[in-house]
Amino acid sequence: MTTILKVDNLVKNFGGLTAVSNVSLTLDNNELVALIGPNGAGKTTLFNLLTGVISPSSGAIIFHGDNGTISLNNKSATQIANLGLARTFQNIRLFSDLSVLENVLIALTNQYQESFIASIMRLPKYYHAEQQMREAALHLLKIFELDQQADQLARNLPYGIQRRLEIVRALATKPQILFLDEPAAGMNPEETADLSDLIKMIQRDFHITILLIEHDMSLVMNLAEKIYVLDQGSLLAQGTPSQIQQNSAVIKAYLGEEDDNAAN
Ligand SMILES: Nc1ncnc2c1ncn2[C@@H]1O[C@H](COP(=O)(O)OP(=O)(O)OP(=O)(O)O)[C@@H](O)[C@H]1O
Ligand SMILES: [Mg+2]
Repeated sequence: MTTILKVDNLVKNFGGLTAVSNVSLTLDNNELVALIGPNGAGKTTLFNLLTGVISPSSGAIIFHGDNGTISLNNKSATQIANLGLARTFQNIRLFSDLSVLENVLIALTNQYQESFIASIMRLPKYYHAEQQMREAALHLLKIFELDQQADQLARNLPYGIQRRLEIVRALATKPQILFLDEPAAGMNPEETADLSDLIKMIQRDFHITILLIEHDMSLVMNLAEKIYVLDQGSLLAQGTPSQIQQNSAVIKAYLGEEDDNAAN
């Protein structure tokens, strides 16, 4: 296994609050890793640090991507996205008044940036690129069984399908690492089961690394090869699903209170 992302002693302070405290972790290529912990543990803050939404107070984020080793510490969210790290959000972020297809096309435009000049100058290349993008978007939608809804407005889709579209948009950027922030939140059991199959398929067919934040423990235990547990900003434990389920500190801080968390 080769490492694709290495986080060393990462810290994020918000005024007097340390939301992320000396967190170190490693993601390997094509690994499916879960990040769990109680509400307010710092999980989303860690995602925000790794994807450049906010910058760390201290520590290091090192990406070993296809184009070599790069520090992500001072990179913007756009630069990090272009390097191949994509995410979904805890609260769905779609262009609700655009169609399913348009939502994917917007995500795809990043990869066809050079065609922007061509589009302004109305070069034939522009029409070619546009056609390629439509084909790529429809191909992705078909894989995720959304091609029948391509012309529907995003806001008219059922909740679980909106979440799926968000994942498709993230994948359209051809990431090497996909960060999913509570993808099962608000889903019914059937949607959650579909999501579980979908995440497995993405790992297998897209050959990418996935870091998953989730409160649904059955989903986490079923999917993850490795689990990190955050509690009050610090790493409480790491290990395989069975190691985590048997870890007394984890049970005390988190798993024993699963019912409380499920209410949120
Ligand atoms: N921009 C910010 N400014 C100030 N405090 C923040 C900011 N973002 C997060 N926090 C605080 O950092 C802590 C960690 O929040 P975070 O959203 O990372 O938790 P979480 O583990 O994702 O929780 P949940 O499971 O509820 O989504 C919380 O106390 C939160 O209030
Ligand atoms: Mg969160």
